[in-house]
Parts: sequence; C-alpha cells; structure tokens
Amino acid sequence: MVSTITIRRPDDWHVHLRDGAMLAAVAPFTARQFARAIVMPNLDPPVTTVTAAQQYRTRILETTADSFQPLMTAYLTDATDPDELERGHSEEVWVAAKLYPAGATTNSASGVTDITRIRPCLERMQRIGMVLCVHGEVTDAAVDIFDREAVFIERILAPLLADFPELKVVFEHVTTRQAVDFVTDGPANLAATITPHHLHLNRNALFAGGLRPHAYCLPVAKREEHRLAVRRAAVGGSAKFFLGTDSAPHPRSAKESACGCAGIFNAPFALESYATVFDEEGALDRFEGFASDHGADFYGLPRNRDTITLDRAALAVPEDVAGLVPFHAGQTLGWRLAG
Ligand code: DOR
Ligand code: ZN
Repeated sequence: MVSTITIRRPDDWHVHLRDGAMLAAVAPFTARQFARAIVMPNLDPPVTTVTAAQQYRTRILETTADSFQPLMTAYLTDATDPDELERGHSEEVWVAAKLYPAGATTNSASGVTDITRIRPCLERMQRIGMVLCVHGEVTDAAVDIFDREAVFIERILAPLLADFPELKVVFEHVTTRQAVDFVTDGPANLAATITPHHLHLNRNALFAGGLRPHAYCLPVAKREEHRLAVRRAAVGGSAKFFLGTDSAPHPRSAKESACGCAGIFNAPFALESYATVFDEEGALDRFEGFASDHGADFYGLPRNRDTITLDRAALAVPEDVAGLVPFHAGQTLGWRLAG
C-alpha cells in the first residue's frame, strides 16, 4: 500500500477568499496548499472593475505567503463593458470572468438577469481567449432546486456553446450526472471543476439526524447516483475535469441560522479530502493530473514546478478552525499534507 505521494504543487481553480478579517483568517489555508487560485469576485459590492480587482489582489497578497498567486476574476453584470474586460485581461489582472445568474447564490443579486445582455462580453472574451467561469444553475423558482443544474445545461449552456464555439468555458462545481456527461461529450473548450464536498456528500447529508447547515452549499448536493458520477469524472483521468474547492466560508452564526448561508469551508484540509477520495477509488496515480495539471493546461498557464507531499496518516479534523466550522469537522481523514 502506498504510504506517501509526492505530486506537482496543485492550484485551486475556484475559491472564495472573502475580504477584511475573514480574508485574513481563511486565505493562508489556501496559500499553504496551492500555488495559485482562481478567486471568485462575489464580494459585496462585487468586483466589477479592473481597479477593484487590483485592489482586492493587493489585499489578498497582504495575507498570504509570497509564493501564492491569486488569479483574479471579473464579476459579470448586465452592464459589464467589454472594453473593461479586455483591458483587465490584457493588463493581466483578470484571468477569467464569472457568470452568476442573478439570484443564483451568495452575492449574486448584481449578476446577469438574461444571458442575451452579455453577448457583447462573450464575443469579446471568445476573441481574446478570456475564460468564462459559469455558475450553472437556473434561477427559475418553478424549477426544483435539485434540477436547476440539469435544466441550466438545456436552457443556457448548450445554446451558449453553440453560439460561441471557441469560448473557453469552465462549468463550475458540477454536481450531476447530466453535467458530467455534457462536459465529457462536449468540445475541448469546455471543462469543469469538482469540489471535495460534492465527492463526499449526497443530499442525505443535509438531513442526517437533523438539519445540517454545514453541509449546505450551492449547487446543493444531489442523489447518490450523481455523487458517484462526479467521483468517476474526477478520478477517471480526463483532462476536462480539475480541482476547484469552492471553499466558501461564512461566520458560524450565518450558517446556523433560520435562513442559513450556502457554502462549505473546506480550505483547511482540501488536499487531504481529495486525496482520501482518490485513495478510496484506487486512483492515487491520477491525483496529480486532476489536482495539478489539467487546470493549468486548460487555462493555458504553466504547470507549477515545485511539489507537495501527502502521507498516509490519520488526520483528525477539528470542530473549529479560525472560529469557523470546517468541512469534515470531527471526522478523521486518511491523508495528511506534509510540512
Ligand atoms: O455554496 C456556495 N457558496 N455556492 C456558491 O455558489 C457561492 C458560495 C458563496 O459565495 O458563499
Ligand atoms: Zn463558488
């Protein structure tokens, strides 16, 4: 049995680092494991200008080690100016832009109300090779919440890819068999991120012995058959699937509430969580591709040069990390990040 694995240092292709005191509390966990991270722009107010993104990047760098590189994203709104997108991209501030359907999730109120409103932005992004990151859920209240990702594919994503056949699109945090199949069968310019929590949890986790707010995130966890499809995608070796934690911390009081926020804080033990899955699936030899190679290749960025090592060792996850409840709180994982 393999007792240690050394892989190229991974990147996190989807993370929420927040701002202010929360940023200072959580960002070091991401920077400790990952060389780079695609930083989500859903602050309040959202990161819609190049200046705001530059300033946010500076604040992140003040809280993290020198070796960490935050990759910034633009928050798309109905009013986003394609020239501003292009400027931020050419000045190497923005790596990607994020599509939040308005109302889909945390701080998405300023998101896009109708995909036709951002056609000029998508045209420009296709032309300049700027990646579109997509929160893939419809916001139609008539659609069952467990079906919103699958319906998004039919209503929005498939037509979008047909209209913009060369646009690079990352279908973020896929949770369903339909999403996995769509990405697998799709063109080379379509890829997906996978979170640790959607590899470990199905929707029963939300109701295990009572209401479990710390298992609540968006897209919400689905049935077991979907979790298994997402697992197969992660460990299957396809270059279209890569690591994106979607670590999304909220204060404990905002989670344990009559109307709790969506988001799972998995940053502290993200690599251990993923490694446990790859080990369970007998696929440790494919972990490096998923964690360290596929994302960089898709984004057209160099692969990292240094390495990290994980040891097979019991890791007891604490109930509290920096005043927050981490993913796997109180559980024991089978791998530990060395150093
Ligand atoms: O669970 C989630 N939390 N999903 C999202 O899409 C947003 C995130 C957040 O920012 O809290
Ligand atoms: Zn997210």
